[in-house]
Amino acid sequence: MEEGLRGASSRPDVESLTCIANEIFSSSPGAGSAAVASPIVKIGAVPTPPADQFSAESALTLSPVSLPFEDECHDFLTVMPKAADSSTASLAGVSSGSSFYFLDEITMPRLNGSAVGFASAHEVFDVNAIRRDFPILKEVVHGHPLIWLDNAATTQKPQFVIDRLSHFYRYENSNIHRGAHELAARATDAYEGSRNQVSRFLNASSANEIVFVRGTTEGINLVAQSWGRQNIEQGDEIVITWLEHHANIVPWQQLCHEKGAKLLVAPVDDNGQVLLEEYRKLLSVRTKLVAFSQVSNALGTITPARQMIEMAHLVGARVLVDGAQSVSHMRVDVRQLNCDWFVFSGHKVFGPTGIGVLFGKAELLNAMPPWQGGGNMIQDVTFEKTTYHAAPARFEAGTGNIADAVGLGAAIDYVQRIGIDNISRYEHQLLAYATRELSEVPGLRLVGTAPEKAGVLSFVLKGLSAEKVGAVLNRKGIAVRAGHHCAQPILRRFGLETTVRPSLAFYNTCADIDFLVAALRSIQGGRASDDV
Ligand code: ALA
Repeated sequence: MEEGLRGASSRPDVESLTCIANEIFSSSPGAGSAAVASPIVKIGAVPTPPADQFSAESALTLSPVSLPFEDECHDFLTVMPKAADSSTASLAGVSSGSSFYFLDEITMPRLNGSAVGFASAHEVFDVNAIRRDFPILKEVVHGHPLIWLDNAATTQKPQFVIDRLSHFYRYENSNIHRGAHELAARATDAYEGSRNQVSRFLNASSANEIVFVRGTTEGINLVAQSWGRQNIEQGDEIVITWLEHHANIVPWQQLCHEKGAKLLVAPVDDNGQVLLEEYRKLLSVRTKLVAFSQVSNALGTITPARQMIEMAHLVGARVLVDGAQSVSHMRVDVRQLNCDWFVFSGHKVFGPTGIGVLFGKAELLNAMPPWQGGGNMIQDVTFEKTTYHAAPARFEAGTGNIADAVGLGAAIDYVQRIGIDNISRYEHQLLAYATRELSEVPGLRLVGTAPEKAGVLSFVLKGLSAEKVGAVLNRKGIAVRAGHHCAQPILRRFGLETTVRPSLAFYNTCADIDFLVAALRSIQGGRASDDV
């Protein structure tokens, strides 16, 4: 079984998680910005959790906060006994004790007083403290407190990341690698520090296996145009799955057209899980590449990645894993997965937009030709001939997105200090709660019901278009994506063109789900029709 949100058999009984949540949003009428109290969760009764997940002792460390009023809610939460990842390393060029020489001279953004500090000190996953780290969660939209349930499209940014970006521009801004001056050294240290951070996050063998790109889409295109053009020939086959985002379909389709190769698609069952036996049947000596998502952006299915990779390797194929929707929800270990490439986007893991990562096994990256030519990636240039650096520089032509790479390092540091396993456990329960609550909304059909899921709850509401439902929710301050989610084939597999897609992150609460469910019930009852 893959890590992450596991099957129904291992799910804690949501009913038994009896907690009292007090979700108080006190807004100031007419105020330009929201006056929103973070949702406060008190532990009412300590659940009997699976032994490896919770501890009663930890539960007691949460202090109730005095509130204007208290509503009982079916919230459960949030006692995570384990400390943040022991693997947590220093900030990407930020923490004290770093070998970066400039740190003694300037004040770097710190995590003190944030949720992360709290979690580390008390070994507690405190969603309320975490929410306070994300300033945008205090926004008011159409007179309602923002409920951000569009995390599969992009995640919000903690103050720590915002501060890190600002710090970079205030104190470190320079181009990297080629300047023989102080700021160039600072910027280079910060940028390469971030690469190291990513490398540890993915458990890569070396930071040289981490290439900065614009995002998942660019990472996939890089592999298609570099390795693909070099290695795919007429008659070869590329295998993907029905679950794929357009970004993991179109580049392979283009490559197949160019080379006369064939694109084969592994089907899914009615829950949205890959049919492994059907997948196996597609693999043969003709298979040169397999590319698939670790988590589906449209359905939330967690694919059996390790097994699929092993099966592909048995026929000699290379494997690319699209991790755009997995890295923020579950531990990713590229060495354990044994994938050949792994791609993800920074903005889906609480970092900036415009920065992403291509992991590739070192020997593979160094055998791939550069896909873009220019500065930074060369060893030597004459008019007759150019020689290239080894990876990662050979794939980073031109001035990259230096500041946002640094911001990504900070985002990953933030996630690691909370602990990706803590996040995974919390979200698993939130997803179970949301699944149960949504299933009880009259006329609601969940699309994507695989036992192994992460973060996504796609659905349709009888008699209403997804766009209309999305518009009504927006009027109530609830942000979801409504549409085809750049994954038309998988929606069509379920006879649909569009769905409504709430998607979760670790700062969401059961109260967010309760607001969503109440809004959907009012739409169903016709009471929200004036809102559209
Ligand atoms: N790929 C992003 C999504 O699923 C944009 O919404």
